Amino acid sequence: MYDFDKITDRRNTDSVKWDIRDSELPMWVADMDFPAAPEIVDAFSDRLRHPVFGYSKLCDEWFDAYINWWKKYHGMDMSRDHLMFCSGVVPAISSLIRHLTVPGDKIVLLTPNYNHFYNCIKDNDRQVLEVEMIYNGSGYHIDFERLENALREQSATMMIVCNPQNPTGTIWTVSDLQRIGQLCSKYNVIVVSDEIHCDIITPGKQYNPFAAVSEINRNNSITCIAPTKAFNLAGLQTSALYIPDKDIRSRVRSSIAVDGNAIIDIILKIDLQGEKR
Ligand SMILES: Cc1ncc(COP(=O)(O)O)c(C=O)c1O
Repeated sequence: MYDFDKITDRRNTDSVKWDIRDSELPMWVADMDFPAAPEIVDAFSDRLRHPVFGYSKLCDEWFDAYINWWKKYHGMDMSRDHLMFCSGVVPAISSLIRHLTVPGDKIVLLTPNYNHFYNCIKDNDRQVLEVEMIYNGSGYHIDFERLENALREQSATMMIVCNPQNPTGTIWTVSDLQRIGQLCSKYNVIVVSDEIHCDIITPGKQYNPFAAVSEINRNNSITCIAPTKAFNLAGLQTSALYIPDKDIRSRVRSSIAVDGNAIIDIILKIDLQGEKR
């Protein structure tokens, strides 16, 4: 039923990855060449049979899909009220930077890190505060002393964690995530945890959601999630933010709407104090 051997020619499909010169090999972009699962294609086909594509609202299935998936595969209980739609993880992170920090602020990245985080920070006139990881010959580790020095001396306001990490593939341990959470809370730094790659994990390894490992982490974080990497749906521009803390959620809800990244239902229902009516 799932054919991972079939080669699908994606040239001339308006693909960022494949509409390139014959001599080029596009290994830089994180979408795969597997067709979407038949269940996904069927669901789209069913929807396409209705020929009107007006504005949509968030349906119960949208919330249930995230809640049930995270419970079943990652052992985390999510509350429906804590989930918010956004039109992609990168647009979400850009909005979060714009609305939760101010120009000139420093935003911590463990390096090496995903190039778009740099773009989001710099394009919004904030500064990247790089904290280099230690490579010990077999893997990357966080230099917590260096991280704490940076947080203490540089007055950062946000840290973007990539969990699991792009590009190193590091799956952070519970203890790593707890220590990041403690340090960020101690120095008043809000954490954005990009967990878009969490379902592509080496068998036998365990991904731990940042927000699930402690109360401190839960109450001082925004987690970005999406089905787009694991199910190869990147062109759909869809993602969710998981925000357990009420005050952070209020601020983010209006930010996402102000930037036009929410869907119309949310834009209509929020008051700009933040919470949904
Ligand atoms: C760590 C990480 N975050 C976000 C994205 C892109 O997310 P989106 O397409 O939802 O903007 C990628 C794509 O490669 C990624 O590697």
